[in-house]
Amino acid sequence: MAVLQTLHKGLPPGPRGTLVGGNLSQIGPRRVDFFLELARTYGPIASFRAGRWRLFLVSDPSLIQQVLVTDARSYVKHFGVRTFKPVLGNGLLTSEGEFWLAQRRLLQPPFLKAQVLSYAPVMAELAEAMLAKWTPGKSVNIEFEFSALTSAIALKTLFGLDDHGDRERIDSSLRLTFALLTVRLDALFQLPLWLPTAANFRLRRAIADVNAVIDGFIAQKMSRPLGSDLLSTMIAAQREDGTRMTPQQLRDEAMTLYLAGHETTALTLTWSWYLLSQNPEAEKTLVEEWRRVLNGRAAQASDLPSLPYTSAVINESMRLYPPAYVIGREATADLELGGYRVKKGYTILMSQWVNHRDPKYFPEPERFRPERWLDGLAARLPKFAYYPFGGGQRLCIGVHFALMEAAIVLATVGQKYKFTLDADAVIDIMPQITMPPRYGMPATLARR
Ligand code: HEM
Repeated sequence: MAVLQTLHKGLPPGPRGTLVGGNLSQIGPRRVDFFLELARTYGPIASFRAGRWRLFLVSDPSLIQQVLVTDARSYVKHFGVRTFKPVLGNGLLTSEGEFWLAQRRLLQPPFLKAQVLSYAPVMAELAEAMLAKWTPGKSVNIEFEFSALTSAIALKTLFGLDDHGDRERIDSSLRLTFALLTVRLDALFQLPLWLPTAANFRLRRAIADVNAVIDGFIAQKMSRPLGSDLLSTMIAAQREDGTRMTPQQLRDEAMTLYLAGHETTALTLTWSWYLLSQNPEAEKTLVEEWRRVLNGRAAQASDLPSLPYTSAVINESMRLYPPAYVIGREATADLELGGYRVKKGYTILMSQWVNHRDPKYFPEPERFRPERWLDGLAARLPKFAYYPFGGGQRLCIGVHFALMEAAIVLATVGQKYKFTLDADAVIDIMPQITMPPRYGMPATLARR
């Protein structure tokens, strides 16, 4: 790790805060606005404080690379991720060190590109099944529809399970859990979860509900001969050597994969349709591409190289509305970053929302222009100018899965239906662990 000769004495520049809360009151519910303002005002490395936490917002791609790649071994996930441990447990998103590495190796095979290609028919089939239930003229919440679809896809491809009523139960409990945990994250003083407060009681009940459904998925799987799906692989690994995966560990990994494996892709689809509804020219180009290449049939994995505009729409949607809009790491040792001292325990935030709006790399950054991706932009960008899936050793395990799923679902749905956003719909972001629309995405279905 490179140590500069001349280190700045103090902290990087940043806004003044209050004695107790620091800058908490300035962060607000649309925290991405605060991040953007911070980067624009104070530059590539800015400092602020949230209660007892000292944070740096780093927005220079080469500094992000230093944190996520070069110095990755000296950082762990930050307190924001740890806040969600009561529901995610010690799964792949939250675990660290040797333990994380062993689990990552165990869970990697089904996510390799070659394996992911085999899920394409199921993705298209389940998208068609959703369409069979739709009727033109019906009003739907786009976010809800895509969340139901991507979770059915995750259950089938990763767990080898068919969709059933429990999925709705787990999804509503998960929503409540994340809303309540986000309130805890924002609170200055987090009361221990065991205290008998009304909020803690609701949270504990929602988590118990989520756990009961996940346990039900596992029990259902164990009651039949094991298959080749990921959940079967995890159960088999547990049986081979009980010390490797305890029942609790199995639950934590299953929970993590179920959550990470559907919500983010559902949001990519939701925001893509929102952006297309606001940009009819782009939608027209997209529909023409599908007509030319697919001519009404469901998309297959082998079609994807022939659908560059579809990929460009997905890239551009994740640029403007990155489902994971911030990544955080906590230093486990005293380090240097951008000429400043990072003390052990400091938190480094890197925000895709900020980087993806940098006019240096994305001229007219607020405009939805899928065309910008068509002339090899991805290869020209420096690493970490665009990073919807993170990077370094903790790169999203589901990157191929998500990109293929988004393209197949977009093309399958978009050839048959279009959405008209309700005239009185209020569209805003709600940054939590991911970034859903705050008031949903109400729209009316019409046949294309
Ligand atoms: C558009 C869809 C998706 C986006 C934008 C996304 C984004 C991300 C990001 C940014 C990270 C890194 C977090 C960090 O470094 O702190 C991550 C990690 C992860 N993602 Fe995704 N993800 C998506 C889809 C998926 C899918 C489909 C799956 C599984 C089926 C998945 C499973 C995971 C897991 C398990 C990790 C933790 C990996 C590790 O630390 O080893 N994600 N994702």
